[in-house]
Amino acid sequence: MKKEPLSILVIHGPNLNLLGTREPEIYGTQTLADIDSDLKKKGEKLGFRVETFQSNHEGAIIDKIQQAATNICGLIINPAAYTHTSVAIRDALQMLDLPVVEIHLSNIYQREPFRHKSLIAPAITGQIAGFGAHGYLLALDAVISLIR
Ligand code: DQA
Repeated sequence: MKKEPLSILVIHGPNLNLLGTREPEIYGTQTLADIDSDLKKKGEKLGFRVETFQSNHEGAIIDKIQQAATNICGLIINPAAYTHTSVAIRDALQMLDLPVVEIHLSNIYQREPFRHKSLIAPAITGQIAGFGAHGYLLALDAVISLIR
């Protein structure tokens, strides 16, 4: 399949569909639709197509990573709770030969000890955590500068 050079995929993991109402004191008040729309607008300004995908299911996230692998030039992923548990998502990311930025709204290192460990981190290029929804835009800047 031909690689579309200007596509970036953003994957949101479980419970992030509830952003805006989910523990707003931790995750903020912006909805996922707000975040996706900001990413698409910023991407367009910078000459990139941004596709967004959310799933509450580990296998669906892995399927998406595998399907996208040949069509995208960068990936941004907030694996949410799977960050701390999923060897399978890490293995899927490990196979990608493109820049991957892991992003978390909250600073996972300031929270409960079980959130301090990211199983994903060894398989990605870099991580952004603790900047709320703005972190997604920082992640987009990071991925684009890595692509260029
Ligand atoms: C999160 C942090 C995770 O520990 C948590 O399970 C989430 C969201 C974040 O964006 O801060 O669902 O990934």
